[in-house]
Amino acid sequence: MKNTEKKEPIVSFRNVCVSFKNSTRILKDLTFDIYPKEIVTIAGPSGSGKSTILRLISGIIYADSGEIIVKAERLGMAFQKNALFNSITVHENLALALKETTNLSRVEINKRVKESLETVSLLHTENMYPDELSGGMQKRISIARALVLYPEIIMYDEPSTGLDPGTASKLEDDMLRLRDKIGFTSIVVTHDLNTIEKVSDRVLILYDGNIKWEGTIEKFMTDNSPYPKCFRERCSIEDYFKNGEN
Ligand SMILES: Nc1ncnc2c1ncn2[C@@H]1O[C@H](COP(=O)(O)OP(=O)(O)OP(=O)(O)O)[C@@H](O)[C@H]1O
Ligand SMILES: [Mg+2]
Repeated sequence: MKNTEKKEPIVSFRNVCVSFKNSTRILKDLTFDIYPKEIVTIAGPSGSGKSTILRLISGIIYADSGEIIVKAERLGMAFQKNALFNSITVHENLALALKETTNLSRVEINKRVKESLETVSLLHTENMYPDELSGGMQKRISIARALVLYPEIIMYDEPSTGLDPGTASKLEDDMLRLRDKIGFTSIVVTHDLNTIEKVSDRVLILYDGNIKWEGTIEKFMTDNSPYPKCFRERCSIEDYFKNGEN
């Protein structure tokens, strides 16, 4: 079920600016809010700064200026490239996240690891190594690793990229089911129109350092203003403005 109920934001960006060494400014006065329990998709071209936003939310990097408020203690991230350790088992990959961030006992850690693997239907891979698994399974393991932390916010960076449509669709079902079961806030970064349509309550379009458009998924799928229309029709926004289409 879609969730668009408005509450106090759980994540707020106000005039956030980020530049990296030797590059132009990536984020320019970026301002947006994310509300509890919604699934928000951040869509935008490659290199526009989507993963950078997730890194800012999780505190891996800091902004040059502006304000970022995150009203959550536990954040889970399913990274764009999975970031699993191939030299240790799936179980150990998940347990590591808990050993490093909690004081839980071994028994409790084992319980949580099994429970998280069960949630993504991959308990049977517990003693396997990540590189023995398919790309889709690795994606789901990286989601399970985010889940062991019992996050209040989960972030998915390009969850369906590189997956066949059937596997991507199952992963999207998982994302919806998890939100309904666990009730966390989900932030999804993706280019994939199918994923956007299936999972989002709300969409933010990032372009040239800023949110150029935001709205509900229903509005995103029907609005004929330049940003959503161009995104849906896979055209370049520069060409769109140059050719003066509407
Ligand atoms: N640590 C860094 N050092 C220098 N430049 C960086 C760093 N991280 C990101 N960038 C640059 O910032 C820009 C935005 O990167 P980011 O990874 O956020 O893009 P993205 O929107 O996630 O792209 P994609 O869709 O390809 O994953 C890119 O030009 C990238 O080269
Ligand atoms: Mg990225």
